[in-house]
Amino acid sequence: MAFIDEIKRRRTFAVISHPDAGKTTLTEKLLLFGGAIHIAGAVKSNKIKKTATSDWMEIEKQRGISVATSVMAFEYNGFKINILDTPGHQDFQEDTFRTLTAVDSVIIVVDCAKGVESQTRKLMNVCRMRNTPVIVFVNKMDRNGKNPFDLMDELEKELNIMVRPLSWPINQGDKFKGVYNLYEHSLNLYTPSKQTISENVAIDDINSKQLDDIVGEQDAMQLREDLELLDGVYPEFDRSTYEAGQVAPVFFGSALNNFGIKELLDCFCEIAPSPGEIQTEERIVKPEEEKFSGFVFKIHANMDPNHRSCIAFVKVCSGKFERNVNYKHVRLGKSFKFSSPTCFMAQKKDIVDEAYPGDIVGLPDSGGTFKIGDTLTSGETIHFKGLPSFSPEMFKYIENDDPMKAKQLNKGIEQLTDEGVAQVFTNQFNGRKIIGTVGALQFEVIQYRLLHEYNAQCRWEPISLYKACWIESDDAEALDTFKKRKYQYMAKDKEGRDVFLADSGYILQMAQSDFPKIRFHFSSEF
Ligand code: G4P
Repeated sequence: MAFIDEIKRRRTFAVISHPDAGKTTLTEKLLLFGGAIHIAGAVKSNKIKKTATSDWMEIEKQRGISVATSVMAFEYNGFKINILDTPGHQDFQEDTFRTLTAVDSVIIVVDCAKGVESQTRKLMNVCRMRNTPVIVFVNKMDRNGKNPFDLMDELEKELNIMVRPLSWPINQGDKFKGVYNLYEHSLNLYTPSKQTISENVAIDDINSKQLDDIVGEQDAMQLREDLELLDGVYPEFDRSTYEAGQVAPVFFGSALNNFGIKELLDCFCEIAPSPGEIQTEERIVKPEEEKFSGFVFKIHANMDPNHRSCIAFVKVCSGKFERNVNYKHVRLGKSFKFSSPTCFMAQKKDIVDEAYPGDIVGLPDSGGTFKIGDTLTSGETIHFKGLPSFSPEMFKYIENDDPMKAKQLNKGIEQLTDEGVAQVFTNQFNGRKIIGTVGALQFEVIQYRLLHEYNAQCRWEPISLYKACWIESDDAEALDTFKKRKYQYMAKDKEGRDVFLADSGYILQMAQSDFPKIRFHFSSEF
């Protein structure tokens, strides 16, 4: 197959949702359709159980299992589908944010009764930063939920994106009859089943009596009214607005009951983008370029204390990646070749000889060679832009509990923060190191890993902080004055950028009004 066709047939995406909306179930059903797995329940092991919140070792064990499902690739109707898994546990949401840098589109799952939830909103904000095309799947239609029109309004308002339903439900809950596929003008009738796939009935004319015969007069009438209203309210579906991240097509279904998934997958393959151009710091990289380039978006550490090994996940952005070929590690300025790069076909991990743009390869790394955001190329010096760091939610001072092991501790902190487990800030006033995380679990993870992998003991000390803000100003003098005035609260991040540590929302507000020439940012890219 021609190189360009290999690129065109690739669909690399992530399924994202607020916990419990049905992300795992939908992912699994997509794999079932793709023939990548044969029984339901196979993906469940990958899921970080919500009940295990206090037992982080258990979570890490499950994360270990999930290496195999980090990327689930399969062939479907001539397309090569790469689903990138994202952790369900919200303490690991930074992992999810980073994974979103490597996808070309996303499917957002929303529970029809709960609508848009906090995590959905956050994830959508990250998608918006890169104008990632979004498809919404409204799940659990077998349960009573919100009125679909209200839900459309809620999606538009809460996710700040225009929507275009491409399927429409006929009733819901106990009375759920199925969906009308507006894209293909067919009726998909619902029979609750976890195993079988429902049949489509082509309805060329929704005014035909055939519709009344199938769904009953009342529901048929309602559907006709709804469709008329839809046509009046929503513009025709236009692929370019979807690709630009301005309009989100919406589908309805029930992942658990295998319903609405095939329509979603078929339409997804047709409209979702193949890998596109990527802006690097130096220039735009096109996937069809002959020379290979790619970047590391995720590092997965092995929790086995006996081998401190990791897998660095690289998204191929241009050219063909080949095994045992020398590539330049741009940050280190060194050349590396990889004898056992892996790809992930559903549950299996295999050594690959080549990979195309859109594909993900796993590179074993035992020596801390890779950091999140590292670029690999065929020789050129370019830098892919990573995802910015966001202000953490929780902060603690990290202290050395074994004076003989200061070196190990520093190395551990350095490498764990490279992996993206947490962020580190150095207070300019007292030189103390502050670790910032998204969730409480990471503190335990870090302490454990420092001890078992680096033989270093740490202790946490409380610090009351509200936010870490990256600051800048066009006025050097104003910046200097600010830093002098707030010297106790100034820190540097890992890259040496200035960070203001605000200990309350009030203090931050005061600083913003007292220093109008300073810009305060909640993420490191501005
Ligand atoms: P998540 O990954 O987004 O956290 O959600 P997950 O797929 O685990 O689904 C959360 C719960 O919702 C699961 O139930 C799942 O069976 C259920 N679910 C998913 N899709 C549907 C659907 O279309 N209809 C209905 N009624 N339920 C659905 P659970 O009891 O938490 O887990 P389990 O015991 O079924 O595994």
